[in-house]
Amino acid sequence: MESIILFEKIKNWIRKEKELGSQEAGSIVLATASSNGQVHSRVVALREITESGLLFFTQKGSRKVKDLSENPSASMTLWLALQRREVVLDGVVELLSHDENRLYWESLSRERQLRFCVYKSGERIETFNHLQLDYETLEKKYQDQNIPVSESYCGYRFIPSRIYFYCLGQDSFSQVTQYILNDGVWEEAIISP
Ligand SMILES: Cc1cc2nc3c(=O)[nH]c(=O)nc-3n(C[C@H](O)[C@H](O)[C@H](O)COP(=O)(O)O)c2cc1C
Repeated sequence: MESIILFEKIKNWIRKEKELGSQEAGSIVLATASSNGQVHSRVVALREITESGLLFFTQKGSRKVKDLSENPSASMTLWLALQRREVVLDGVVELLSHDENRLYWESLSRERQLRFCVYKSGERIETFNHLQLDYETLEKKYQDQNIPVSESYCGYRFIPSRIYFYCLGQDSFSQVTQYILNDGVWEEAIISP
């Protein structure tokens, strides 16, 4: 089985969740670990699923970037509540190229680009109002100009080597299918929940 088939299955599950009315079906929990084994997780937006992996974007100052620079292993969990389905993926990340970052940056609205430029992930700020003031300053600075790619804009490709598809039973057994990548081949196994 090829990765693309498994990725298509994830895309279909997300599509179905959106059709059922979910607003946040593209959000996924990303767990990372530092080099000394300190684990941390948070939600990120799944920007795209391509043939080569799952793409997400973040800030260079964030804890995930620090963790992933020390240890590229990561785990993702997608919970699709309306279908009672879960996808869990274990794998590694690689950084997107400058050109890839630029391409995704240019697809963001101007407002989102400006908001991104204002964020300094994890840094202390005095009040929430400071974000708005910084936003307005940048808005004036880049009036009638394209906003250059923020230096802290940073995309990753997550490449799974293990995927679990979990269908939570209601009045029936839950069903779990596991896929492990072995020498370029995805091996399928039905797993007891
Ligand atoms: C629905 C949702 C979507 C989010 N999407 C992103 C995202 O795409 N990228 C990102 O860096 N943070 C995103 N965040 C914020 C992160 O969850 C997190 O708080 C922030 O990135 C700091 O991460 P850190 O713990 O790695 O420092 C999102 C939060 C929520 C609730």
